[in-house]
Amino acid sequence: MSASTTETRRAAFGAVSAAFASLGRVCMALDAGLRVRHASQAVEGLLGAGAAARLVGRPVEELLGEELFGEGAPLRQALQAGERREGWRASLRGDGPGARLVSVTVAPLHHDPESACDPEAAYLVVMRPDEEDHLRATGPAGFAGLVAHSPAMVRVLRLVDQLRHRETTVLLQGESGTGKELVARAIHAHSPRRSGPFVAVSCAALPADLLESELFGHVRGAFTGAVRDRAGRFEVAQGGTLFLDEVGDLPLPLQVKLLRVLQERSYERVGDSTTLRADARIVAATHRDLRRAVEAGAFRDDLYYRLRVFPIELPPLRERREDIEPIARYLLLRVGERGGRALRFSPDALRALLSYPWPGNVRELENALEFAVTVSQGQTVRAEDLPPEVSGARLAAPEASPPGPPARAAVADHEGQRTALVAALDRSRWKVAEAARALGISRSTLWRRMRELGVSR
Ligand SMILES: Nc1ncnc2c1ncn2[C@@H]1O[C@H](COP(=O)(O)OP(=O)(O)OP(=O)(O)O)[C@@H](O)[C@H]1O
Ligand SMILES: [Mg+2]
Repeated sequence: MSASTTETRRAAFGAVSAAFASLGRVCMALDAGLRVRHASQAVEGLLGAGAAARLVGRPVEELLGEELFGEGAPLRQALQAGERREGWRASLRGDGPGARLVSVTVAPLHHDPESACDPEAAYLVVMRPDEEDHLRATGPAGFAGLVAHSPAMVRVLRLVDQLRHRETTVLLQGESGTGKELVARAIHAHSPRRSGPFVAVSCAALPADLLESELFGHVRGAFTGAVRDRAGRFEVAQGGTLFLDEVGDLPLPLQVKLLRVLQERSYERVGDSTTLRADARIVAATHRDLRRAVEAGAFRDDLYYRLRVFPIELPPLRERREDIEPIARYLLLRVGERGGRALRFSPDALRALLSYPWPGNVRELENALEFAVTVSQGQTVRAEDLPPEVSGARLAAPEASPPGPPARAAVADHEGQRTALVAALDRSRWKVAEAARALGISRSTLWRRMRELGVSR
């Protein structure tokens, strides 16, 4: 190849790059083996000086991740099938530590024989720095382990980020398994109290009197069995965050006591008159509709408003279907790592995951993958390795997000969920406790879902 041809091609790519750069985009051309052939100068804005030249010849999966570009991964598959994919989130890694979060679009290049373009360039990768990039770049640990692709979850991350310098009381609401505890931990890990403890208490797990001593502690002799003084969770969480899980289940007498702590920042151990100062930031969570509980008289409205200073709603997984695939891939990686296995999904397994309505949300997805990894042999998780209610869901809901008016989608969603619940119940011979365990939800949640969906034997 003559020097002038090389020069012409470089100039052609340079012109394309400049056009993309003026739109705030960075581009790369890949050869048929998915190695970088050209990288635009603008990549240096993300990876530092000299990066454009250093990237040439590198396999794209080293830069943008195996999850997207490894053997059998979605973007590699798409390119090899001659298809375009838009707006995928990826972390771009150079040689240094740290990564930049980018949104990636990939497309095969169609060559015009007359054009000056490099015929070896088979694919185009266009990247845009992700607007959430700074969330990862600034946090010490980033939002580790919290996968968020859907606009709804990106909004949640943004709220967590806005709380970064605050100690505001937060109320997390969402169905079982939507990630309330994970978000609570992220709030703590990004708060001024991150070096203090994160202490979780479930308000649903204990009867009222035990819960009171669990929260506030007791002194020796306060009640039968109180053989020594014991610090409560409020005390243990001093300087850190107290996560009040299932706060909607807090018995009314304790609601009064909690309200006092929130108002006056003080409390007493059970059986003691010494007043202690509460120095714990409160993050509360519930799967209940607290407003309705207030209307029904089961939850005090004054406490409700004290907790709801900064409400965050976690939508169910079926309402943020874009998250299913990335969370599934992330969890598969994690579950696989534990067993020392590198695993991937077959296309029909992925299709089944995408069409299932996930009444138990991310927790159910996690359980289903644990199950599949145990059942599967080899490196590929197939549809038939998934729990039957998941692999069978395709019959009920053929497409990931059914096209057509929202009402129709909602009906299909409702029907899909109903079918999945009935399937799980059938499998456990209608033993609700067993079905709930399989779905990764609590018994009461399952009863509630059955009522909502009109499922009965
Ligand atoms: N966005 C996410 N990315 C990765 N993992 C997630 C995400 N959301 C939830 N998970 C995982 O799913 C499981 C359930 O999440 P979590 O316990 O936070 O939910 P929860 O709302 O508190 O549920 P429950 O009401 O059942 O207690 C956890 O193992 C968590 O790590
Ligand atoms: Mg929880």
